Amino acid sequence: MKKNVAIGFLGVNLDKGKGPKRWEGWRPSVDLCNQSDLIIDRFELILDSKYLTIAKQVKADIELISPETKVVLNEVNIDNPWDLGEVYEALFDFADLYRFDTDKEDYLLHITTGTHVAQICLFLLNEAHYLPGKILQLSPPKRGKTLSVGAVSIIDLDLSKYDAIADRFERERKSDTAFLKSGIHTRNLHFNAMIDEIEHVAIRTQSPVLLMGPTGAGKSHLARRIYELKKRRHQIEGKFIEINCATLRGETALSTLFGHKRGAYAGATKDRDGLLRTAHHGMLFLDEIEELGMDEQAMILRALEEQTFYPVGGDTHVKSRFQLIAGTTADLVKLVSEGRFREDLLARINMWSYSLPGLKDRREDIAPNLDFELSKFSAANHRKMSFNKEARQAYLKFALSAEARWTANFRDLASSVTRLCTFAQGSRIDLLSVEKEVERLKNLWRFNRENNFEEILLSVMSPEQLDLIDPFDRPTLSHVVTTCQNTNSLSEAGRVLYSVSRCLRKTTNDADRLKKYLAKFSLSWASLVNT
Ligand SMILES: Nc1ncnc2c1ncn2[C@@H]1O[C@H](COP(=O)(O)OP(=O)(O)O)[C@@H](O)[C@H]1O
Ligand SMILES: [Mg+2]
Repeated sequence: MKKNVAIGFLGVNLDKGKGPKRWEGWRPSVDLCNQSDLIIDRFELILDSKYLTIAKQVKADIELISPETKVVLNEVNIDNPWDLGEVYEALFDFADLYRFDTDKEDYLLHITTGTHVAQICLFLLNEAHYLPGKILQLSPPKRGKTLSVGAVSIIDLDLSKYDAIADRFERERKSDTAFLKSGIHTRNLHFNAMIDEIEHVAIRTQSPVLLMGPTGAGKSHLARRIYELKKRRHQIEGKFIEINCATLRGETALSTLFGHKRGAYAGATKDRDGLLRTAHHGMLFLDEIEELGMDEQAMILRALEEQTFYPVGGDTHVKSRFQLIAGTTADLVKLVSEGRFREDLLARINMWSYSLPGLKDRREDIAPNLDFELSKFSAANHRKMSFNKEARQAYLKFALSAEARWTANFRDLASSVTRLCTFAQGSRIDLLSVEKEVERLKNLWRFNRENNFEEILLSVMSPEQLDLIDPFDRPTLSHVVTTCQNTNSLSEAGRVLYSVSRCLRKTTNDADRLKKYLAKFSLSWASLVNT
């Protein structure tokens, strides 16, 4: 049989009493040891030295009515028993030093005596598992029956035992992850696991969060959802402020972010707050953060670390506490190695970083997202849209095939559904509409690809020069151009481009081969890397 050990504060008012009359009043600490069906083997009474006399009387009385109970007096001095910090710390120290032996003893935390603050602290320490055991409270005997004993009730704070409460937490968690996913029943395991983690982290952290991924993967959407989730959970009070850093250029960039003082420069006719200040207590979403200039990066880092900054032309600092979410389509580590992104800023913002997969890597989510887009269109246009059976099959067949490139990911899907719904006669999307849409998508992606080759080539030559190059040669040449621009020397580029054939040769002359290839198009290493 395990021993019962009660731990509780001496009740300086309730437990007090002198002379024979003391037996007529209700003294909870004494009463606790007078229960017929609960034997207390040891009572750890916590008291301030000031009340030693009362404590000694209580000890003697308990030992008189319950000889099996050993009473231990623990002097814990607390100046102000209504001060939560002080009481918590004192009890924490008590718990820290106490030798609990949960194999041999059951602990009962007695909360009938002591200030409300003391009760709260016992509860908190129990809940945080610093004080093991169960909470115990006594209720006074019925009026007029002063000599009878009060009723004991024991509360087990291990909430996991309460199925209903556990269920409730689980439902809440599920509804939070569903909220982050806009209620879409996504099936991709990797994506779902990531959203689970974001749900867990988002409501607990104030640190920056970095969302990476290709365009249209849903970074902006997710950033806003994270904000809304925190708002729902009362974790954030301020606003959601969003800015695409690619739109921040030149002298107005600093003033847009950090604000300015009147007269800071020509045209600054009034004070301006700036986005960092507007995001005070809220969330700042810096989309395409890789587009920030080096000066702005340094200032953002400072503002994050010190939670203050100087507006342009201002000599007093402004405070702002905000949570940063950054979005990027770039490989920031690579940009750091190229000296285009500050290493210290990256270190600061990638505390929690998540990489959102593109639609191609989440094919199993195309169908649920298709339904979601359909209902979104339906709601916005007050028209319930749906596919004919064979039309839906045909669309999904194409959407899931390798031919569907989904270069702009969910943005492509959203536009495609909008077109299908707009062209549909009435509320039904038929096979013919799907076939037309599939052609449109194919053209869109074909155009993008060709367009890309041309764009790359036009960055190193004039349109007249490009006109002289066969379509046959354009893909290869544009690949050569990008490889040269991403390597450090002609030899290195040659090694990459001729990586297969060079192994079959006795002597290697990659640099020379590459130089001759470029010369055919009147290009040279220098002309490529100096653009
Ligand atoms: N989880 C999602 N639920 C619903 N729609 C989404 C979701 N993620 C993205 N979208 C849609 O996809 C499109 C692109 O998303 P967006 O967040 O702007 O991408 P990114 O910022 O990564 O370029 C938007 O039209 C958005 O409504
Ligand atoms: Mg975006």
